[in-house]
Amino acid sequence: MSTASVPTISAKWVRLSHFIYDHVAPKVYDLLQRHMIPLKKAAVNELGLKRGDRVISFCCGTGSEFSFIQERIGPEGEILGVDWSQGMLERARRRVANNGWTNVELVQGDVTALPGSVVEPESYDAGICTLGLSVVSEPEKAFQALKGAVRERGGIVIGDICSFAGWKAILNPINALVNLAGGNTHRSLAHSRISAESLSSSDLLDVKVTWHLGTSYYIASGRRP
Ligand SMILES: C[S@@+](CC[C@H](N)C(=O)[O-])C[C@H]1O[C@@H](n2cnc3c(N)ncnc32)[C@H](O)[C@@H]1O
Repeated sequence: MSTASVPTISAKWVRLSHFIYDHVAPKVYDLLQRHMIPLKKAAVNELGLKRGDRVISFCCGTGSEFSFIQERIGPEGEILGVDWSQGMLERARRRVANNGWTNVELVQGDVTALPGSVVEPESYDAGICTLGLSVVSEPEKAFQALKGAVRERGGIVIGDICSFAGWKAILNPINALVNLAGGNTHRSLAHSRISAESLSSSDLLDVKVTWHLGTSYYIASGRRP
């Protein structure tokens, strides 16, 4: 990721997407996202978690990757999920209650502007954000905040959709249309690809990027320097 923090989604679009995530998405999200579950598991696998680890999940939504994290950290570990949508967090709370997890904290907040009182710097063993940065208005800021929350050598994983490159770019109008309801735009998807491609030259250690869904989805992992 480059260091410049430029909004990739307009304020108007952000308000609309906020409304969708609060009032519409919670009812259908988990059903519509079922096909993405293996990719969430694959993303969690890249975090290098061990029992007792503390994990921060940005844009956690309904907490669809929590069970994979729990398998690795056990009850002695901890998860902090951050999302700004009360509707999505409500679903996540239900998931936590249904599973009887007592080691999950859910916080409502904007991942581009989290106060230190919510997320203590460098206090997590790992940080993850799946399908989040592409719908955040300022993805660079969110990425830096995630990095800032993770301790030295801690694992960082971003899993996200992005635009196609090369000849497959002819599919981008369809790609943008399909992902519109999730809050993505042509611009945010294009930015998402640039971010993924530039991660190898970022200051993260041991960066690995794998491509999925015909290269319209990436999982990028690395460790905080
Ligand atoms: C597509 S969902 C992804 C949810 C989950 N990570 C997953 O993989 O299923 C995107 C989530 O990002 C949240 N979100 C968008 N912008 C945000 C921001 N600035 N701060 C916190 N959450 C945000 C939305 O409320 C929504 O729950």
